[in-house]
Amino acid sequence: MDTEYLTGIEEIDNQHREIEEVARAVMEAVDAKDKWHIVHYIVVRLYELLRFHFTVEEAMMRITGFPEIDEHKRVHRDMLATVERMKSATLDPNLGEDSDILKKQFSFLSHIVDHDKRLAEFLVDNVSHLKK
Ligand SMILES: [Fe+2]
Ligand SMILES: [Fe+2]
Repeated sequence: MDTEYLTGIEEIDNQHREIEEVARAVMEAVDAKDKWHIVHYIVVRLYELLRFHFTVEEAMMRITGFPEIDEHKRVHRDMLATVERMKSATLDPNLGEDSDILKKQFSFLSHIVDHDKRLAEFLVDNVSHLKK
């Protein structure tokens, strides 16, 4: 993970690492032309990780008074909805071997923690130094 996304809060940084790992696994499975039900299984794991992580992050934003919380929560909601759509799409029995549309949708996964940049900056400036 790029250092600009590090929050200095171990729990959040570790969650980001795990999310990136699983997101990468999804994309690798798609690239390797794994069967869609295998992709589905990894997408479910990603969805569960994200749901938990977003709850933690939103609590963190409330506690620390992050000023852009509403916009940030909207991004979380949209991402969760996208991954939820991937969950159902990968279960579709009519899905062809080579669904380019679906593959295109998966490409956003390589930027899955990018939206946290401003939050990371805020936490580094306002919270993580308090622990030292
Ligand atoms: Fe976030
Ligand atoms: Fe995050």
